[in-house]
Amino acid sequence: FTAGPLSGRRVLVTSGPTHEPIDPVRYIANRSSGAQGTAIARALADLGADVTFVTGPADVPPPAGVEVVRVETAQQMLEAVEAAGPVEAAVFAAAVADWRVASASTSKIKKQSGAPLPVLEFAENPDILATISHKTTGRPRLVVGFAAETDDVVAHATAKRARKGCDWILANDVSPATGIMGGTENAVVLISDAGAEDWPRMDKTAVAQRLAARIAEALTA
Ligand code: C5P
Repeated sequence: FTAGPLSGRRVLVTSGPTHEPIDPVRYIANRSSGAQGTAIARALADLGADVTFVTGPADVPPPAGVEVVRVETAQQMLEAVEAAGPVEAAVFAAAVADWRVASASTSKIKKQSGAPLPVLEFAENPDILATISHKTTGRPRLVVGFAAETDDVVAHATAKRARKGCDWILANDVSPATGIMGGTENAVVLISDAGAEDWPRMDKTAVAQRLAARIAEALTA
């Protein structure tokens, strides 16, 4: 138990990539270290929140003091989010694979010389952020999504916020030149009802602390 502005409040954070199996030894995935999601979960726990941390296979270890639920696929991530029960705020920082292999093989696909190359057919994964945002009962009071963009960041993220139905979007420019992907710093724009608010470039930990403080403000207002 940690005393703080969020003590006694249940929140949920998704983080890391999802892995979508091709066969028992191969998968497709998004690039995601899990660093930003992990920092957000830690910052929320530091403010006293009761945090459920649903994470795909990330590079960084989960923070201490949170309830960790480990998943592999997008479908498992959605199930874990639903199973976590009602929360006051949910932050969707996971880099979820948009597609899964339609019928993953249960045995290893063999490489045979002269045989035709395998062709992968995809099926669409559930959009976890949109699913939770559009819930008519039991929707968290505050739903926060991310938008990694490479151009027209604010315009794309504003459209994404409307499409997904979430309350806030933290948008960032992940063009290779920014060095944000896989780096320790982030430069984000917070998109809300009130418009777009530019945050200076700072450590991912500082972004997480600032977001956690804003969430505490919104939930305790
Ligand atoms: O559509 P896009 O992937 O750019 O949206 C990013 C936001 O949506 C992130 O908050 C991400 O966690 C969430 N998302 C999700 N489920 C998906 C795809 C994205 O929760 N299948």
